[in-house]
Amino acid sequence: MNIVVTGASSGIGFELAKSFASQNHNVLAVSRNREKLLELKRFSDSIHILSTDINIMNKEVISESLSKSKITHIDILINNAGVLVKKPFIELTKSDWLETYNTNVFGVANMIQCCIPHLIKSQIKHIVNISSMGGVGGTLKFPGPAAYSSSKGA
Ligand SMILES: NC(=O)c1ccc[n+]([C@@H]2O[C@H](COP(=O)([O-])OP(=O)(O)OC[C@H]3O[C@@H](n4cnc5c(N)ncnc54)[C@H](OP(=O)(O)O)[C@@H]3O)[C@@H](O)[C@H]2O)c1
Repeated sequence: MNIVVTGASSGIGFELAKSFASQNHNVLAVSRNREKLLELKRFSDSIHILSTDINIMNKEVISESLSKSKITHIDILINNAGVLVKKPFIELTKSDWLETYNTNVFGVANMIQCCIPHLIKSQIKHIVNISSMGGVGGTLKFPGPAAYSSSKGA
């Protein structure tokens, strides 16, 4: 299968990309830190990388990257990239809110829009958005990250 994983430069995304490649799936790994993506690419020839911010991603960039990687369509998009600003609500700045919502909400919607033309060519067509229990329990359960939890609810 052909799988796009965002937030692949660290944590869950990095491990997902390695795991899929080890099961012979093609992976397009997306995140901003190119050095880390190059490190990931060393694990397998099935891992292709695209260093960009998911907010500035556009249809042309993803199309070019897929065709350069000889990937004809996308079977699964995993929106894993996420930002967590951990501050009490009273201390959150406008820029904290914007950074959080740009990645966790608008960036996810943007990735879906950019990938739809390639997903519709697949028989499978899965989109997985990685949320958080913070988005379910909210600030009652997790009092710190109000911007994060509300964005994950979205
Ligand atoms: N770890 C947990 O316990 C936990 C629990 C619940 C939910 N989650 C969710 O699971 C996902 C992964 O968590 P994690 O702990 O593995 O996170 P992490 O290690 O902090 O990794 C976050 C990834 O997102 C990328 N990223 C952030 N903003 C981006 C942007 N604007 N454009 C492109 N890439 C961006 C980062 O790469 P660059 O900086 O290179 O762009 C990084 O690769 C997140 O959505 C998180 O909210 C995690």
